[in-house]
Amino acid sequence: MADKLTRIKGFADLFPPDSDAFTLMETAAREVFGAHGYAELRLPVLERTELFARSIGDETDVVQKEMYTFTDRGDRSLTLRPEATAGVMRAYIESARHTLEPVSKYFTSGPMFRYERPQKGRMRQFHQINCECLGAVEPHADAEVIIMLMQFLTRLGIKDLSVSLNSLGCKECRPAYHQALRAFLQTLDKERLCADCLRRMDTNPLRVLDCKVPDCQALLAGAPQVIDYNCEACRAHIAVVERLLKAARVDYVMNPRLVRGLDYYNRTTFEVLSGNIGAQSAVAGGGRYDGLIRDLGGPDIPGIGFACGMERLAMLLPEHASPRPDFYLAPLAPEALDEALVLAEKLRAAGLHGQVAFAAKSLKSQMRQAGKLMARKCVMLGQDELAAQTALIKDMDSGEQETAPLADLITALRRMLPAGQKD
Ligand code: HAM
Repeated sequence: MADKLTRIKGFADLFPPDSDAFTLMETAAREVFGAHGYAELRLPVLERTELFARSIGDETDVVQKEMYTFTDRGDRSLTLRPEATAGVMRAYIESARHTLEPVSKYFTSGPMFRYERPQKGRMRQFHQINCECLGAVEPHADAEVIIMLMQFLTRLGIKDLSVSLNSLGCKECRPAYHQALRAFLQTLDKERLCADCLRRMDTNPLRVLDCKVPDCQALLAGAPQVIDYNCEACRAHIAVVERLLKAARVDYVMNPRLVRGLDYYNRTTFEVLSGNIGAQSAVAGGGRYDGLIRDLGGPDIPGIGFACGMERLAMLLPEHASPRPDFYLAPLAPEALDEALVLAEKLRAAGLHGQVAFAAKSLKSQMRQAGKLMARKCVMLGQDELAAQTALIKDMDSGEQETAPLADLITALRRMLPAGQKD
């Protein structure tokens, strides 16, 4: 027997109800973000590797250890996107969107790829819903983004979330922090730090704080905190964000240890956490990235955004009953097959939902099938019905039956279906 072909480790197939949950999240995203002026972008999943190295940062775990990178047949180094922000920036710069609108707001959703160790809530192909607001330097944009994110999560019916907030400073005040952090790192027992941390101490000390190795984490407990080194302008910025979040009744806690895993952030950073999904508790994360567009060769335009992990949100969604089909059209004799197919299309054109059987089967087996599909009505078409140009409608809940002329079938079904299922 041929070897069974299976999916790749860390990649999932989504069947209903999981695929329904994804549709539901995307629909809610379109509504909530659309109401805030966000337009949907659909971008490639494959980009030049350099884009991610230059935006996410050479020293991040994402770039060093987690990217799906390969050389294509034209000898180019390409990478499956590990996140969406870099691609949005590339597209924004490439199409000179800043010349069209003073503030651009985009959302996108789709698969991202990171070669991580798969576990509950951590996949190698996962999906994000991502929002980016470009062109606003004001803290009001930061507040709106966070308030909107919480509105979206509330719309999905997700409860018991906490928001962590931090300010990572800016290009003015970050150098002083780096200096203080390096000085602290020098005092540590080098034997106990991992090889990545030893290197990053010099190349990118903030990354040391994000190290996942427990031994390193323990040593870093007394490290200086970036928010304590914020300059006046950064302090004023985060103070306004806090004031606006309080006014909007968004509960948050300041977490000076929140440095995020990507290099492009400055000033406001945030994560939304859930206590109900295990170790991978961040359902969303984001922050401000003034300077990123410029560093990628574009104009000096500020930005702020976030991404939600759809697999993690799906674990938190309240149960949603799938809508039941209105009908199952069951031909009971081969002569009724063609008529049944035509009739089913007429019912659908009238706004009713349902399936038609492609083979004539016994009454019992057709009823079983209608039951499996949870259809509200089974519409049967046998030899007698065909001769009389009628159909037999059976209510799958009460068992009641009624004969209706084919010409009146739509009206009869509409009358019999519960309110809300009729059009
Ligand atoms: P991130 O924190 O790397 O940020 O990812 C955002 C969210 O994606 C996480 O909070 C988590 O819910 C989900 N996620 C990340 N990795 C995985 C995984 N392996 N499996 C399942 N879910 C995962 C970013 O990606 C930034 N681009 C967000 C952003 C947008 N910042 C500004 N704009």
